[in-house]
Amino acid sequence: MDHIRKTVIGGNWKMNLLPSEVSAYAEELKKYITDSENTVVFFAPPFVMLPIAVQSFKDTGIFVAAQNVSEHENGAFTGEVSASQLRDLGITHVIAGHSERRSIYGEADSAVNAKVLKILEHSMQPVLCVGESEEIRDSGKTEELIASQLKAALSGVSEDDITRVIIAYEPIWAIGTGRTATAVQAEEVCCFIRGVLAELYCEKANAVSIIYGGSMNADNASELLGAPNIDGGLIGGASLVPESFAKIINTANTSN
Ligand code: 13P
Repeated sequence: MDHIRKTVIGGNWKMNLLPSEVSAYAEELKKYITDSENTVVFFAPPFVMLPIAVQSFKDTGIFVAAQNVSEHENGAFTGEVSASQLRDLGITHVIAGHSERRSIYGEADSAVNAKVLKILEHSMQPVLCVGESEEIRDSGKTEELIASQLKAALSGVSEDDITRVIIAYEPIWAIGTGRTATAVQAEEVCCFIRGVLAELYCEKANAVSIIYGGSMNADNASELLGAPNIDGGLIGGASLVPESFAKIINTANTSN
């Protein structure tokens, strides 16, 4: 991998596990990770677990991320959580535009864009998710969709800020299905993403970490992470078990 880019491994717990399970998870994970020097590691538990997660991972070099954030600064938005609240808690990364948010909660590109800008404004790093459905892939429109998702979500992101954005390519057909994209398929789209970034940000595109998500696990991580434009992974199911998440982190450490 090009060393101007960081390898990033993120765990997305989605709506799983309990607050009372976080500290035991942290202890287990710390036990299994051999060396995370070359890799940025974060995990994103549900909002209610963020305080205990920040406490449990203090001084470990593992970052705690949020799965979502409000696009608004503050005010009368019942049920929402603001970027300043996350930042105040010690959150460093925030997932934006996950396909589950887009498809189940109708999050539009414009909202994803507002969230990305809000996360940057509050000195955190957005993990911007893009990805096509099976239908889009079958109709040959993957690149068109990815380009439009990227351009919309990055609107107003400056050249100075783009290297703080992590892009996660998550094909919807590979999420939670056990049907991982092959390294060739994933590399093809990640390379395309880098091309779109180059169009928008010239050589800065080479410094942006682009990661893959969709049924990544301890067995397939090595092949995926070996591809030149795949700089890490966003892991759902396999991040729930500390031993398997740690195996992916350890694989990343040896592949960069
Ligand atoms: P799975 O690893 O469970 O397929 O989930 C991927 C994902 O959506 C991570 O954000």
